[in-house]
Amino acid sequence: MSESKRADKRRISRRAFLRRMTGFSVAALAGASLLEACSPPPATPTPAPTAPPSVKPSPASATLSDALKKRKSATAFQPQPLPKEKLLDLLWAAWGINRPDSGKRTAPSAMNAQEIDIYVLTSEGAFVYDAKANQLTAVVAQDLRAKATTAAAMRDAAAQLIFVADYAKLRTGSQSQKELYSACHTGFIAQNVYLYCAVEGLGARFYAGVDRAALKESLKLRNDQQVVFAQAVGYSKE
Ligand SMILES: Cc1cc2nc3c(=O)[nH]c(=O)nc-3n(C[C@H](O)[C@H](O)[C@H](O)COP(=O)(O)O)c2cc1C
Repeated sequence: MSESKRADKRRISRRAFLRRMTGFSVAALAGASLLEACSPPPATPTPAPTAPPSVKPSPASATLSDALKKRKSATAFQPQPLPKEKLLDLLWAAWGINRPDSGKRTAPSAMNAQEIDIYVLTSEGAFVYDAKANQLTAVVAQDLRAKATTAAAMRDAAAQLIFVADYAKLRTGSQSQKELYSACHTGFIAQNVYLYCAVEGLGARFYAGVDRAALKESLKLRNDQQVVFAQAVGYSKE
């Protein structure tokens, strides 16, 4: 099969994945519209990526209805690591680029600010998700998972997703508006993670009780970057 046919097939797979998630996407976009109704005019959209992601999302076979029925927070995790491809598929579902022509994502974003970065803490180190390449970029070569949480429900998970707001990308609004938008954006992304995990037989647990100060230092975040929330993902014990 030629490279262009393979690329077409990958694009079709992403569309099929999105079709399965239509109900959720409609609800998500409705939420974004409410926020934008009281927002300043849209900022310049993020430039389109030069090439589509090289890793296709997992062809999940469950319907949206199945995903919603199974969606829950895991209460304990097994320690096995997630295969890299699985983790990248999960991150694409969470916050990947689903429209390469505009660079827009699987979750909505007020003013298309796209200020949330997902830092991924695994046994191999800390990484940040590069949506344009659908890849992980190394940040720190150290297992920082215990810095995020030591709570029994989350501590053994293969990966801790740390949602970090880059307030430099939210150029308008008061600090409290920025915090509101970033919390909202994080919620949309985290629900994508929950639904992906539900259909893929993985566990996930969103949490507010994350050590923000410790992570800010360990991940070498700038002053205008803020840890919003976190989410443990991996193989559930249940
Ligand atoms: C904003 C938010 C903060 C949360 N913080 C924590 C937390 O700090 N620790 C924790 O174990 N679970 C946390 N959770 C998970 C909730 O406890 C969980 O969603 C709730 O018990 C309902 O269970 P379910 O997700 O299985 O429906 C949080 C959930 C949300 C939405």
